[in-house]
Amino acid sequence: MARILITSAIPYINGIKHLGNLVGSQLPADLYARYMRARGHEVMFICATDEHGTPAELAAAKAGKPVEIYCAEMHEVQKDIAAGFRLSFDHFGRSSSARNRALTQHFAGRLADAGLIAEVSEKQVFSRTDNRFLPDRYIEGTCPNCGYDKARGDQCENCTKQLDPTDLINPRSAISGSTDLEVRETKHLYLRQSALKGQLRDWIVSKTAVDAKGNPAWPVLTTSIALKWLDDGEGLQDRGITRDLHWGVPVKRGEADWPGMEGKVFYVWFDAPIEYIAATAEWADANGLPDVAWQRWWRNDMGAEDVRYVEFMGKDNVPFHTLSFPATIIGANYDGKEPWKLVDYIKSFNYLNYDGGQFSTSQGRGVFMDQALSILPADYWRWWLLSHAPESSDSEFTWENFQVSANKDLADVLGNFISRITKFCRAKFGEAIPAGGAAGPREAALIEELTTRIRAYEGFMEAMEVRKAAGELRAIWVAGNEYLQSAAPWTVVKTDPEQAAAIVRLSLNLTRIYAVLSQPFIPEAAASMMAGMRSDDWSWPKDVAAALEVLPVGHVFDVPEVLFRKITDEERAEWQQKFAGVRT
Ligand code: MF3
Ligand code: ZN
Repeated sequence: MARILITSAIPYINGIKHLGNLVGSQLPADLYARYMRARGHEVMFICATDEHGTPAELAAAKAGKPVEIYCAEMHEVQKDIAAGFRLSFDHFGRSSSARNRALTQHFAGRLADAGLIAEVSEKQVFSRTDNRFLPDRYIEGTCPNCGYDKARGDQCENCTKQLDPTDLINPRSAISGSTDLEVRETKHLYLRQSALKGQLRDWIVSKTAVDAKGNPAWPVLTTSIALKWLDDGEGLQDRGITRDLHWGVPVKRGEADWPGMEGKVFYVWFDAPIEYIAATAEWADANGLPDVAWQRWWRNDMGAEDVRYVEFMGKDNVPFHTLSFPATIIGANYDGKEPWKLVDYIKSFNYLNYDGGQFSTSQGRGVFMDQALSILPADYWRWWLLSHAPESSDSEFTWENFQVSANKDLADVLGNFISRITKFCRAKFGEAIPAGGAAGPREAALIEELTTRIRAYEGFMEAMEVRKAAGELRAIWVAGNEYLQSAAPWTVVKTDPEQAAAIVRLSLNLTRIYAVLSQPFIPEAAASMMAGMRSDDWSWPKDVAAALEVLPVGHVFDVPEVLFRKITDEERAEWQQKFAGVRT
């Protein structure tokens, strides 16, 4: 039994996430966590809301609420939706927690002790009307390059030119529209990532092949993005880790004040990944456990050496997880006294597009998590999203594809198998596993095929090859369906009821196996299947022949309700219409 620490990129607090966000981190992480638990491993699956930063402040202002209240409410909203999708977090934390505040300040202190923090004076735009410094993207004005009048201080959306706020003609605050701006001098902390460049590079390069512990190479998507950031242009830049904002973790050096940094907070991207650790501490607190309970996951000097740590994220998050967060972790151990856990494997995803365009939170384009659950149960979405995960390239959600895939895989193949066999048994033998008959060559062939496919499925799940795992699971369902079709107990029963009983016995047992194998993908249906078999035996089918004997002769079962109903053409058209516009 291994110990596996799994984190999903933590979603921003402002607004409900869309399906593209879901499939890029939380959902595949859940798949992996469920699989590893099913195999008997000890799993710690962590997620949280990412609550700091200007977007959260502005969203709260827009909602007319104090930012603390807004975040507390949105955290509950996101938590409920995650539960609706059956995301099986061991803890869903908050980056604004006291734990994260203390840990973030602690890490900053360690990095300063290591000589990895530089204090830099810079000039920044201050809005007197808003009484705050304005981040570059919250300054608007006319582009000096193309004349577009809504260019942002970091970039012109129209001509894509990278800008400095001082380049803008007629600059104004994007928050209030005020032009009462001035440039003020302000001091900030920089993490000297460049000092760790060699170490980070060696580490990333070591992940392009099987590593010393036998861990597989990281996905090329992950390592190529990391190497690009390390080597492109001027290479890895030192990074500002503080901001002139009100909402965030106050800048401190450990527990001590940081002279000159009064009133400032850490940059959201500095404290967010630290929340992975803090959320594990929040988990311990919530369960009344002592600190060692979370430290054994995160500190190599307290047992975390044996932990395999896997992170899941979309590709836009890769630089922060391959370079910045590791710089924090490595830097904090400058004297060998705080060996924090470094990630062992980073699974990253491309983007999911929506019906010929992009999913967009700011534009309200696509299907959002709450909307999805309001039209169909979680399993439909889980199955489609995972079986079409954007692994090797971007992928696209279309309503046609969604309908076809749900109707075929879930209703025609899996659902049909279970409904046919349970109803047939009830009609001919009653609602209990029938006696009589023996397995023949057809059954032996099925067992052989299932054995091969289940081993392949395990391999894909271990390797986090999500699409391939889904394909193998589908093939396992198909094998049962084809077996039933060719064994045709409804015909056999007329001449050889004993033989028909043997087919039924095997198929009902296969239903239980399907529940076990399918549970990571479609947990709700799996639970219905298992309940229908009136069993609670979730043991993994290591030996298929033996697993097909688990439900004994005479064992009572129920014919389950329809597992998956079909999506009609009318529904598809209606949803297509409903989600064609933007969410307001
Ligand atoms: N909130 C970020 C996003 O949604 C992800 C933060 S992941 C963390 O893109 F590592 F920083 F926590
Ligand atoms: Zn421009």
